[in-house]
Amino acid sequence: MENERSEFREKNRIATLTMDDGRSIELPILSGTLGPDVIDMRTLGKLGVFTYDPAFFSTASCTSAITFIDGDAGLLYYRGYPIEQLAEHSDFLEVSYLLLNGELPSAAEKAAFTAKVKNHTMVHDQMARFFQGFRRDAHPMAVMVGVVGALSAFYHDSLDINNPEHRDISALRLLAKVPTIAAMAHKYHTGFPFMYPKNKFSYVENFMYMMFATPAEDYVPNPVLVRALERILILHADHEQNASTSTVRLAGSSGANPFACISAGIAALWGPAHGGANEAALNMLEEIGDVSRVKEYVQGVKDKKYRLMGFGHRVYKNMDPRASVMRQTCYEVLSELKLENNKLFELAMELERVALSDPYFIERKLYPNVDFYSGIVLRALGIPSNMFTVIFAVARTIGWISQWNEMIGDAEHKIGRPRQLYRGAVKRDYVPVGRR
Ligand code: ACO
Repeated sequence: MENERSEFREKNRIATLTMDDGRSIELPILSGTLGPDVIDMRTLGKLGVFTYDPAFFSTASCTSAITFIDGDAGLLYYRGYPIEQLAEHSDFLEVSYLLLNGELPSAAEKAAFTAKVKNHTMVHDQMARFFQGFRRDAHPMAVMVGVVGALSAFYHDSLDINNPEHRDISALRLLAKVPTIAAMAHKYHTGFPFMYPKNKFSYVENFMYMMFATPAEDYVPNPVLVRALERILILHADHEQNASTSTVRLAGSSGANPFACISAGIAALWGPAHGGANEAALNMLEEIGDVSRVKEYVQGVKDKKYRLMGFGHRVYKNMDPRASVMRQTCYEVLSELKLENNKLFELAMELERVALSDPYFIERKLYPNVDFYSGIVLRALGIPSNMFTVIFAVARTIGWISQWNEMIGDAEHKIGRPRQLYRGAVKRDYVPVGRR
């Protein structure tokens, strides 16, 4: 019924664009299953002009059936399922299956998928030597960009992007190996030995084991902390056409292999305006240092000296639904670890209170985002702040692969090639160096 309605609207609705010289063009209006209508600009070139939209505020770069966000209403769906329901009832591998395949798995499908992922958790042993080439103090994201990209030098048997079986195996390899590489980056940085994956553990338990265990001690996962990390992974698994996902799609549109594309996504995620926000938020808390300085710091934000990291979002102009889930998880973890009275966490809660009641933030619809709380949870779990963006990359890998797969599977996809508004020099003749 919904499809029929969309079909009808697409066939009959047009927008007319008229130039100042009187020429005009009729542009079809397309409707999705949810969300605002979209004007199809593909034929605009007939007028000899194109659109200018540098940060993509008004541009849909693709069609997708994976994730839907309504930022004003504070909604996030994966394949139609509200994020709150998935965070409450599902686990990360089930969510990964859903993102990749479009449907929740049956019990048998889930068991088979889990077994396949576990089968791929180890990396080629030669990869361990890669790490020796990095300085010990290298940022783990620098290591991730390099080593994940290097997977393409190890798995030649799955690089034919036009072969669906190759795409499937690459997806499994990335989902399974990125946590192993992330944990290796952490171990290398801290000087501890690498821990091989242990498949008796769940996906998240295994990741925590590779991060925190040492060969000298038995490792017993704490279920409250495992659940918290599971939630962080679920909440960060996909988020529509954000900067890193768009980067993965753009890199993939040229036919680059998936390992190279995911490495490009990791690079884009690194920045403080995107995946680096939870690290930046924690660093900011440390810089503030004490509850008594919150007021003064917030005044600096209002005077535009700096931004409050972990606040605001390009799309959510209401409470980010992921932030609500993460906030609850944050309180659970602090209570489990008896950290409610910890200075840093007290400071974070005071900052949240002040910002949520201050007109500067209320008027601009600046709510704490998911990274404000995930940074606090990750710190409480004992994860160092330079690993925060890496954890985000571990979570987002499945979203990137699902989006890449969707694009490559679309027979109509073409290389992405934005245009530009040129404002450089007009034609001029070369002047020899002695006459300049
Ligand atoms: N602290 C203080 N003021 C802010 C903040 C902030 N964190 N974010 C936005 N503003 C203000 C701006 O100064 C601007 O004020 P003005 O109207 O007086 O000029 C207004 O709010 C709108 O800001 P924009 O930059 O237009 O908002 P945009 O949607 O482009 O920015 C962004 C979104 C980049 C996330 C921004 O809010 C920000 O820098 N936040 C801090 C970094 C952060 O937490 N990033 C994580 C995003 S979530 C993620 O990647 C998963």
